[in-house]
Amino acid sequence: MKILAISGSARRNSTNTAMLRAIRAIAPSDIEVSIFDGVGRLPVFSPDLEGESLPEAVRDFIDLIAQSDGLIIASPEYVRSIPGGLKNAIDWLVSGDDIVHKPIALLHASHRGDDMLAGLRTILATITDRFAGDIFLRLPLMKLKPAEVFKAVEAAENRSRVQAYLQAFSAYCMADSKTA
Ligand SMILES: Cc1cc2nc3c(=O)[nH]c(=O)nc-3n(C[C@H](O)[C@H](O)[C@H](O)COP(=O)(O)O)c2cc1C
Repeated sequence: MKILAISGSARRNSTNTAMLRAIRAIAPSDIEVSIFDGVGRLPVFSPDLEGESLPEAVRDFIDLIAQSDGLIIASPEYVRSIPGGLKNAIDWLVSGDDIVHKPIALLHASHRGDDMLAGLRTILATITDRFAGDIFLRLPLMKLKPAEVFKAVEAAENRSRVQAYLQAFSAYCMADSKTA
């Protein structure tokens, strides 16, 4: 099972990116988690650049999506909404085929950010028919440094919650792929 975990933060010491790296480290052996932390490297979306003019960074991003069995997205909230970089990344996917049946679940690294979550849920339910809205895990990690995030995720109570979350999403991805 190959899961691509996308961080909505372009910040070097992002709690969301650190959380995704930490879940990769404790994932069950049959679940391979890869991290995409490059939303800040994608050019601004324009339909004029789709097709033959597709920028290489976008092509690489789309390839990673195509090669995965499912996506996990973790994002900060900026000004009560989705960070521009994450929205831009999603915009690049919308006219292609790779996102339409892709299982997607949310993971959240803050006790806040519910406006962003509501908006992101609406967007994800629009771009894929396999948004796993019920599979969700929130860890209150806001303001922690990456090493502190790792320690918190690896603590026994969170480790078992993360592993249960990954197993539930993996089962969802497999069930979906059988009925596709
Ligand atoms: C410009 C800016 C705007 C923000 N706006 C909000 C907001 O509206 N609501 C909120 O809960 N947090 C807001 N935050 C806080 C971030 O969502 C929070 O610090 C988050 O955990 C950062 O994630 P990261 O560590 O992965 O970058 C904002 C932060 C910044 C820098």
